[in-house]
Amino acid sequence: MTSTLALLGGTPAVTAPEPHFTWPPLGESAKHAVLAQLEQAVSIYDRSGVIEHLENELSDYHGVMHVVLTSSGTAALHSMYMACGIGPGDQVIVPAYTFFATVTPLLHLGAVPVLADCDETGTLDPKDVTQRITPQTKALVVTHMWGRPADMASLKAIAEEHSLTLLEDASHAHGAAIDGRRIGTFGRAAAFSMNGPKPLSAGEGGFVLTDDDEVYYRVLLHGQYNKRCRNELPDAHPLYRYAVTGMGLKFRIHPLAARIALDQLGHLDSYLEGRATIATYLCEQLGQLPGITAPELPPGVRSSWYGLPLCYCSNELDGLPVARFYDALQAEGCREVDRPGSTCPLNLLPLFQEPEPLLPAYNDELTYAPGDFPAAEAVHGGTLKLPVWHREEDMPLVDSYIEAFHKVTDRYRDLQG
Ligand SMILES: Cc1ncc(COP(=O)(O)O)c(C=O)c1O
Repeated sequence: MTSTLALLGGTPAVTAPEPHFTWPPLGESAKHAVLAQLEQAVSIYDRSGVIEHLENELSDYHGVMHVVLTSSGTAALHSMYMACGIGPGDQVIVPAYTFFATVTPLLHLGAVPVLADCDETGTLDPKDVTQRITPQTKALVVTHMWGRPADMASLKAIAEEHSLTLLEDASHAHGAAIDGRRIGTFGRAAAFSMNGPKPLSAGEGGFVLTDDDEVYYRVLLHGQYNKRCRNELPDAHPLYRYAVTGMGLKFRIHPLAARIALDQLGHLDSYLEGRATIATYLCEQLGQLPGITAPELPPGVRSSWYGLPLCYCSNELDGLPVARFYDALQAEGCREVDRPGSTCPLNLLPLFQEPEPLLPAYNDELTYAPGDFPAAEAVHGGTLKLPVWHREEDMPLVDSYIEAFHKVTDRYRDLQG
């Protein structure tokens, strides 16, 4: 029998010093590169230097013609939506379960986000999407939650059948793929975040991918005015005369951030391989415990393992509430076990229930309420998320987390009453 639970006065299972997980892993090469960049340029107005280098590398990595770096993922999404012609009154089907920045840029374009529920994997449920399509629906946006690719075959077929623009928020899923095809290449365009913990991190930053020349030009006009527009739009393009001002927003990435991302991109595939090994091990070990269901990937699907979303099933532990189970894991020293907070079903957030005090144009357009998206709310409420480590030397820590889960599930009855 395992020892007394730490929450009840016993000794914690995880004793390694904190932090247990940090990201991105910045080695000597990154530090040298950033110092060198400091000497070269800290402000770049055109597509040159590290900006050109990173855009070319991202373009090769994804096999996509155009890449535009941005200051954040939110900016990338905003530019992508604008460039795809989404505007006032357009309905855009978006996941109810995503980080809110997938959707908030639409509110600044006057579009109407139409939330759709997820399936048990936490990604868009194609059946729910279909029933939300109306004559006003213009686009369908997919988020690959926690790095696990959504069901793109079904979603792409729906978009094609209804002539919807398919767009990806690939902010969790750098390097993820379905049958070798990289996430971010399934629709007309894709937006990625590269902020702190993202699989490909710049510290802060983002980018848009597209094979569509017109989308590319308009992404530039939206957030990269003057030099980039003057150099990259063809002189004969009808919008060339706007090149100096573009649409007047500035969403350029910082060159030091671009340099960090360039270094990280060189390591991305090896990070993902390491993560895949440890994720498989964690799923095998934790998925066999009562109360825990581990994610399963269909054949041919590669996740970026931005997070490992475990599903807690209280009915397998006599109804023990997830909050109590989580508290017990935290007390065991599993400081990295997370119950996602701000990444939650959007109908639970005031901005999507009553946006009017902040966004007066939406006086009665968005009136979502708790209970509207049962699947998303169930998935979110039961999720215990772990980071996925990638190095061999992380294994003792991984094993101590597994031991803590065993201990809490073995002794869960001690937590009742
Ligand atoms: C799915 C998703 N979309 C968009 C964003 C916004 O990216 P950024 O923070 O770089 O603006 C995030 C950031 O966490 C995200 O997780």
